[in-house]
Amino acid sequence: MKLLKPLLAVMALVFSTWAIAGNVPAASGNEAEVVWQALKEGAQVRTTGTAPFADQAINSYDMRTLDWRNDYLSYGMFAALFGMIGAFIVFIAVNGISKLSDGYSGKLVYRWSKFDLFIHWLGAIPCLLLIITGLTLLSGKIIIEPLLGTAVFAPMASLAKPIHDYMAIPFMLGWLLMSVKWAKNQIPEKCDLGWILVVGGYINFGPFKGKHPHAGFANAGEKMWFWTFAFGGAVVSATGVILLFPDLVEPSRTLSMLALVIHGAIAIVLTMFSVIHIFMATIMSEGGMECMVSGYCDENWAIQHHDLWYDEIKAKGELKYKD
Ligand code: HEM
Repeated sequence: MKLLKPLLAVMALVFSTWAIAGNVPAASGNEAEVVWQALKEGAQVRTTGTAPFADQAINSYDMRTLDWRNDYLSYGMFAALFGMIGAFIVFIAVNGISKLSDGYSGKLVYRWSKFDLFIHWLGAIPCLLLIITGLTLLSGKIIIEPLLGTAVFAPMASLAKPIHDYMAIPFMLGWLLMSVKWAKNQIPEKCDLGWILVVGGYINFGPFKGKHPHAGFANAGEKMWFWTFAFGGAVVSATGVILLFPDLVEPSRTLSMLALVIHGAIAIVLTMFSVIHIFMATIMSEGGMECMVSGYCDENWAIQHHDLWYDEIKAKGELKYKD
């Protein structure tokens, strides 16, 4: 029994050397099966290599994780970005945007501090770059290369990798600051249900037309985005760190492969929500973009979209106009 482990290790080394040379005919007999089984279970060998986990004879993760990545996530990521953009273009063409019922008042009300603007863009700009480079890394080989050719895809991919790695740092900082600082304004309230039932008043026909549901500082849609971003950002950050530093985690690469699949799946969700968020802020909600440019919003925008918040700051004497 004592001798079994070293014996297996020697056999594993011999077997893996044959395998690398590509000279192994179909494995035959019990011995080969025992060795192969031991290798798949992570049997250690002794080598002169000094790299971390050099004694790990072969990677023993479940190969199906690569299939999930290639067969589902790569297409999912592509569909999340371009499918959502396409869906929004059609939606706006059919439905139109949400206009300010009483037009612009011309009076700007304080909503976000300069620090809030800073942390928003600290997270948002890297997030957009992570989405674009992440798409190149995840869907590139399978969708982009066949479409654009290797000559275009190769430089794209080699640029995408370092950008993706480095942008993770400001993204994580922005994510942490936004998640901690803004959480108190994003707690679900009773009025959120009313907002959801009329889809925020953004549908311009049928029984929804002209509806302006009640909302506090954040409405139900913004809250859904915030919590998806807060929890999704946590998972995408944690799995990203595992992928950047696999040797810190474990030798079999099982966890790394799991991290790869989870990272891609959550990135798809974040991409879909990001597209919705950007369309809502820039095109869909007239006057909304001003909030993240100057930190102020038009008074009529505040009354139409965040009436409970507007009433509250007015009642407390905290309503502050831009000079
Ligand atoms: C061009 C891109 C973007 C634009 C124009 C934009 C615009 C805005 C605006 C105007 C608001 C304030 C909404 C309000 O005051 O009620 C906001 C809030 C927010 N943004 Fe962005 N944003 C962009 C990208 C992103 C990205 C990529 C992220 C993710 C990192 C992000 C995360 C957030 C979060 C968590 C909030 C607070 C929740 C909310 O109020 O919706 N934004 N953004």
